[in-house]
Amino acid sequence: MYKQLLSPLDLGWTKIKNRVLMGSMHTNLEEIPGGFERAAVYYAERARGQVGLIVTGGISPNEEGCVAAQAAKMTGSVDIEHHRLITKAVHDEGGIICMQILHTGRYGYHPKIVAPSPIQAPINFFKPKEMSEEDIERTIKDYVNCALLAKEAGYDGVEIMGSEGYLINQFIAKRTNHRTDHWGGNYENRIKFPTEIIQRTRAALGKNFIIIYRLSMLDLVEGGSTWQEVVQLAKEVEKAGADLINTGIGWHEARIPTIATMVPRKAFAWVTKKLKSEVSVPLIAVNRINTPDVAEEILADGCADMVSMARPFLSDPDLVIKTIEGRSEEINTCIACNQACLDHTFQLKISSCLVNPRACHETVLNYVPTQHPKKIAVVGGGPAGMAFAHISALRGHEVTLYESGPKLGGQFNLAKVIPGKEEYAETIRYYESMMSKYKVNVCLNQKATGKDLIDNKYDEIILANGVHPRSIDIEGADHPKVVSYVEVLQNKVNIGKSVAIIGAGGIGFDVAEFLVHDTHYDDDIRSFLLEWGVDDKYTDPGA
Ligand SMILES: Cc1cc2nc3c(=O)[nH]c(=O)nc-3n(C[C@H](O)[C@H](O)[C@H](O)COP(=O)(O)O)c2cc1C
Ligand code: SF4
Repeated sequence: MYKQLLSPLDLGWTKIKNRVLMGSMHTNLEEIPGGFERAAVYYAERARGQVGLIVTGGISPNEEGCVAAQAAKMTGSVDIEHHRLITKAVHDEGGIICMQILHTGRYGYHPKIVAPSPIQAPINFFKPKEMSEEDIERTIKDYVNCALLAKEAGYDGVEIMGSEGYLINQFIAKRTNHRTDHWGGNYENRIKFPTEIIQRTRAALGKNFIIIYRLSMLDLVEGGSTWQEVVQLAKEVEKAGADLINTGIGWHEARIPTIATMVPRKAFAWVTKKLKSEVSVPLIAVNRINTPDVAEEILADGCADMVSMARPFLSDPDLVIKTIEGRSEEINTCIACNQACLDHTFQLKISSCLVNPRACHETVLNYVPTQHPKKIAVVGGGPAGMAFAHISALRGHEVTLYESGPKLGGQFNLAKVIPGKEEYAETIRYYESMMSKYKVNVCLNQKATGKDLIDNKYDEIILANGVHPRSIDIEGADHPKVVSYVEVLQNKVNIGKSVAIIGAGGIGFDVAEFLVHDTHYDDDIRSFLLEWGVDDKYTDPGA
């Protein structure tokens, strides 16, 4: 069924065992004491899960390029020792791993940042210093040195990060490159920075070393590249010696959602497809590819030669092996909520995953078989109750789950009806399959009574009965026109034309979306692009 996805990709001198790349994610493990030991276990688990190729989170080639002060960089022999832990662990599992080299340019959160021109990013407090020609020359050498060190640390290759508005992208786009020397001005000059990096890296590292270039195919900002420029850059990148071109979508300062849950699945695969006939180097499609079916469709449609899945490997390290073994209904699908991954990263916390708290915590959170099986009752079949029931059953306990309603899922059943939040249904599907796999005794339409709980002689009773909407204490609250969000989202009441919503938090906002949106984005990429003003004809620079 997954013929394309599970077929190897031949790079001539090496083969990648399947078409799935685990996309780069900086998790902040790289920065904490003992973090490399943890990262080694984290990556090894994904390699054991049979992913074709892993790319690490971004590592800076020098101090100025770091994400934040003291953030991870690869500049000397001390770094090599740390990274060897990762490469050994991945190779021991039969995996292939490339290190991403990322220089943040004007996006770094520290005072030493540099950029082609001294223009402050709208999303940063710090203003960059303009790079001198010597700085540029030294930085290119730093990239090459970083790649050499990565090879010494055992990496099979590097990914050179050229998208998302970071330093290389800042050189390429007119928006951020106002230089008048031979690193600025016309497009040929502006793309010299990335092509020099690739050429010199290839020359220094020889043939048998993977070089991936992450190319911004869609800047989504004013003053970004035109389509002709994207094509020209891709051809130059190929000529310079890259083995694979990965896709980058949108600068961080772009105002268009590119990975949030309301972005339809495979919403940007069309842009990779647009480039497909222009170059012969294999291309990688990215963003919101979260199930094997979607990945297979992309490959079968000829959009790309590989697919990158980043967050889906936080939510499930075994995504590929489950696909290989025909167990795709057991995949814990990434719902693109960003709550425990990206949100944590930007708060400088360790990344994790809302639906898989083991992500990046593989050495500290393990579900080991119990030596003392117990009889457990779980009251409430929402996400918390299902998660508890699943984990305790897989550890060997005998579990009964009581749910007073007719179905499992709790508040996720409300979330999944909000336009753009359809993905929440996947978590319910996952847990339902876990309930049956681990033989949890699920009692629907059964409100647990004290008598049930006592008569059945449970050793433990877990209350996971969730939240109840707060009733408001204002005059008129008992008027027949006043209804709760639960009744609205469950379609239990007729809603008139004019509605006032009291409460402008997440629920109030979602209810508004539910009431005003007539577009469900499922499979509706065109309406999404139209609504957000993304021009797939690429009439203007940056699309
Ligand atoms: C926590 C987190 C950290 C990320 N760090 C990087 C990074 O260091 N370098 C990079 O190129 N992309 C990074 N990304 C972006 C991902 O590579 C990817 O483009 C994005 O998550 C969309 O793909 P997905 O829908 O498969 O997750 C990060 C994403 C997340 C969620
Ligand atoms: S926290 Fe949400 S977006 Fe991030 S990996 Fe988990 S499910 Fe996906």
